[in-house]
Amino acid sequence: MGRALFRLALCYGMLGISTAVTVYYAPGQNPFSTTSADASSYTGAAAYNPTTIDPPALPNPMPSLSLDFNIQSNPTGLSIPQSGAFMGFSVEMSVANQVLGKNSSILQVPFLNLLATISQRAGAVRVRIGGNSQDTASQVATLDDGKVLEKDLGGATNPTETPPLVFTPDLLYMMRNISDFVNVRWFVGIPFNDSSNFRLEIAQSAQDILGDYLIGVQAGNEPDLYAAHGHRPSNYSQYDYVGELGSLINDMSQYSDLSAAQDLLLIPSVSGTWTPENVWDTGVMDTYSSNIAWMSVEHYPTDNCYAQFGTGTPRNVTELWPTYLMHSSAQSLVQPYLNSTGYAQSKGKPFIMFETNTASCGGFPGISDVFGAALWGLDYGLLMAASNFSGGMFHVGGQSVYYNPFISPPTNQSTYRQWTVGPVFYSSLVIAEAIGPSNQSQVLEIGAENQSTYTPNYVIYENNQPTRMVLINFLSDSSGNSNYTANIAIGGGQTGQSNTTPAQVKVKYLTASSVSQKGNYSWAGQTFGGNFESDGRLQGTETIVTLPCDQSAQVCSVSVPAPGAALVFLTDELTETEGAPSTTFATTTLTRTANTATVDASVLATSNGRSGNSPVGSSSKGSANGNVRLRASVSCLWALLVFSSGFGLFLTTVYL
Ligand SMILES: *[C@@H]1O[C@H](CO)[C@@H](O)[C@H](O)[C@H]1NC(C)=O
Ligand SMILES: *[C@@H]1O[C@H](CO)[C@@H](O)[C@H](O)[C@H]1NC(C)=O
Ligand SMILES: *[C@@H]1O[C@H](CO)[C@@H](O)[C@H](O)[C@H]1NC(C)=O
Ligand SMILES: *[C@@H]1O[C@H](CO)[C@@H](O)[C@H](O)[C@H]1NC(C)=O
Ligand SMILES: *[C@@H]1O[C@H](CO)[C@@H](O)[C@H](O)[C@H]1NC(C)=O
Ligand SMILES: *[C@@H]1O[C@H](CO)[C@@H](O)[C@H](O)[C@H]1NC(C)=O
Ligand SMILES: *[C@@H]1O[C@H](CO)[C@@H](O)[C@H](O)[C@H]1NC(C)=O
Ligand SMILES: *[C@@H]1O[C@H](CO)[C@@H](O)[C@H](O)[C@H]1NC(C)=O
Ligand SMILES: *[C@@H]1O[C@H](CO)[C@@H](O)[C@H](O)[C@H]1NC(C)=O
Ligand SMILES: *[C@@H]1O[C@H](CO)[C@@H](O)[C@H](O)[C@H]1NC(C)=O
Ligand SMILES: *[C@@H]1O[C@H](CO)[C@@H](O)[C@H](O)[C@H]1NC(C)=O
Ligand SMILES: *[C@@H]1O[C@H](CO)[C@@H](O)[C@H](O)[C@H]1NC(C)=O
Repeated sequence: MGRALFRLALCYGMLGISTAVTVYYAPGQNPFSTTSADASSYTGAAAYNPTTIDPPALPNPMPSLSLDFNIQSNPTGLSIPQSGAFMGFSVEMSVANQVLGKNSSILQVPFLNLLATISQRAGAVRVRIGGNSQDTASQVATLDDGKVLEKDLGGATNPTETPPLVFTPDLLYMMRNISDFVNVRWFVGIPFNDSSNFRLEIAQSAQDILGDYLIGVQAGNEPDLYAAHGHRPSNYSQYDYVGELGSLINDMSQYSDLSAAQDLLLIPSVSGTWTPENVWDTGVMDTYSSNIAWMSVEHYPTDNCYAQFGTGTPRNVTELWPTYLMHSSAQSLVQPYLNSTGYAQSKGKPFIMFETNTASCGGFPGISDVFGAALWGLDYGLLMAASNFSGGMFHVGGQSVYYNPFISPPTNQSTYRQWTVGPVFYSSLVIAEAIGPSNQSQVLEIGAENQSTYTPNYVIYENNQPTRMVLINFLSDSSGNSNYTANIAIGGGQTGQSNTTPAQVKVKYLTASSVSQKGNYSWAGQTFGGNFESDGRLQGTETIVTLPCDQSAQVCSVSVPAPGAALVFLTDELTETEGAPSTTFATTTLTRTANTATVDASVLATSNGRSGNSPVGSSSKGSANGNVRLRASVSCLWALLVFSSGFGLFLTTVYL
């Protein structure tokens, strides 16, 4: 009863203050109208840029659109065992308080829901908090107003420099609290700007607070760029870096107790200026073998630095765009690391693509934020898995980038907007479902006779038996004439293999109207919607297609739309809820006024989540604009209804 009164009081409190936080947009600033606005006059945040580029012309001559596969059990060349959490997320440290929550007691519900969709399929999710902004971060005991992170505006040493970050241990408590709800395994990074005085507090806090949920501690972020960025002398080499790593390990061993963290190091995270071999050849993997838990690289296919900052090479997006819509993109990204994935196996360590996305310096509007990027990320992730990487992380950069897998609304709009889910989140989702939760799945890239770069294909094995396939069609053709058909036979006609072609297969499709579609992509009929439309839960009715196989020819023919991808289940077992119970955190946990849900962590803890079918968790985008003031009171009314009908979740605060 005390709790009931408390909630009631909060709700009245909300009503009382809601007008104070109501945000109206000026004429022409309504982001909902930007999708039809003239892209050339768009001045809003990069994350919602409306620019699109027409799909590339179809190739001439056209590739073969009917391919025959004979899938064998126990083939050669299977990957190492893989986790369905293969494609995780790298959250730039400076935006962690926009993405994860405000602090350990106020979490972002859409973030929990998004991660839950992955863990439900994969059994876990990997998230890294770090990036360039970690290198100058310092831990402080507390910050005003319960904040966990802040830019230290007095700390920039020159006017153009990004101010350094200060964070509190509560950032780590927030991460730990998230792991109570969804099985998130975390990476953090040690600030590396001053190697004569390593600030080890984050390693200490992470070790003590995250416990087993801490899986890696990065030592140096893109050290091969330190000299170019003026953070080290111009002659700084891989030998200097390894020397600094030695100092770090020495410092850690002398710190009060970093016995766990000092054996979780992730190195060297080079970005291409040095090859990984440049670093391996220092002997570092032998010298510090027991301290190193992960071997890492970071790489983006290209950059948009010229348009963003006026540095580097101007890029022509018209020419770049088709290159993302071919398997040769993934091949060229993976090929430079094949020697290293073999070398990592010889050292018994996992090798991870620790930070990647469509292009550095924010990506490209019309490339990074459209359906083509979902297919690109799917192909790239699966090729990494087939090539013995142990994971990859899509970077989340915040409002000023085009490539976010997901992003919360700008803070001054968080009371009336929901999240935006980008194309590469769908890539991670499909990969999670394709690889599944066993942690033993093996991935094989397969080619067929006459296969082109537009139709890459993968098989996922469990216990050496083929169980799932991913078929991709990069072609974009609204006529339907470029759909591609895979004719799949299993085990037939080969020595030592009995024919095990099933009577039927189940198929889930990843689709959109064209590779240029922005938002609202469909995964088996469900979607996270367009800009500002997601509470982190898939919406809509799921469609799983059952295709009968030709029993006399012993072939299953699966059509893949142009553009699109198909996840084909060769056995009866679906993986959608095999990793964890399907738990969603309903947006009945409304903010003061609307849909961007954050939640009091302790309330959520006792509520154990909500089913996606909660009657009031309509997650409707509601009346998108115009009646913001009205919705303030309506949602509070909802909250009261929620309360009185026994749904316990209640939201206390939104951060502004
Ligand atoms: C939100 O803040 C940004 C950056 O300060 C500003 O440009 C924008 O106009 C604000 N939007 C609203 C709706 O107040
Ligand atoms: C490293 O960063 C910290 C925190 O921002 C700053 O105080 C310090 O001066 C920096 N050290 C060097 C050598 O740049
Ligand atoms: C989180 O922030 C809220 C609002 O500022 C504050 O009331 C609360 O005490 C903070 N929680 C923690 C653990 O600091
Ligand atoms: C690199 O340059 C620094 C001065 O910037 C110098 O002290 C150091 O000896 C040089 N190192 C090597 C290996 O040349
Ligand atoms: C593979 O990497 C190892 C370790 O760096 C190196 O010794 C070897 O030369 C590399 N091989 C090739 C073909 O690059
Ligand atoms: C970009 O490339 C296209 C196709 O090659 C060309 O027509 C266009 O002029 C180029 N744009 C710029 C700005 O160079
Ligand atoms: C991946 O590793 C397995 C096991 O060592 C090996 O058989 C396979 O050829 C490797 N694949 C690639 C693409 O390097
Ligand atoms: C797979 O790995 C994750 C992360 O380590 C773990 O939480 C999960 O229990 C594992 N699943 C199985 C089936 O072993
Ligand atoms: C591959 O292409 C060639 C030339 O077009 C054709 O003769 C052959 O039948 C094709 N093979 C298959 C399996 O479709
Ligand atoms: C191509 O696939 C789309 C999507 O599944 C379908 O609507 C269309 O009918 C197909 N076209 C042809 C010619 O099969
Ligand atoms: C998203 O797709 C649904 C169903 O196809 C449609 O009703 C809705 O208008 C679309 N929204 C956007 C923003 O394209
Ligand atoms: C969250 O973190 C705080 C530390 O700030 C802790 O006291 C609390 O028990 C944690 N769990 C929940 C569910 O709030």
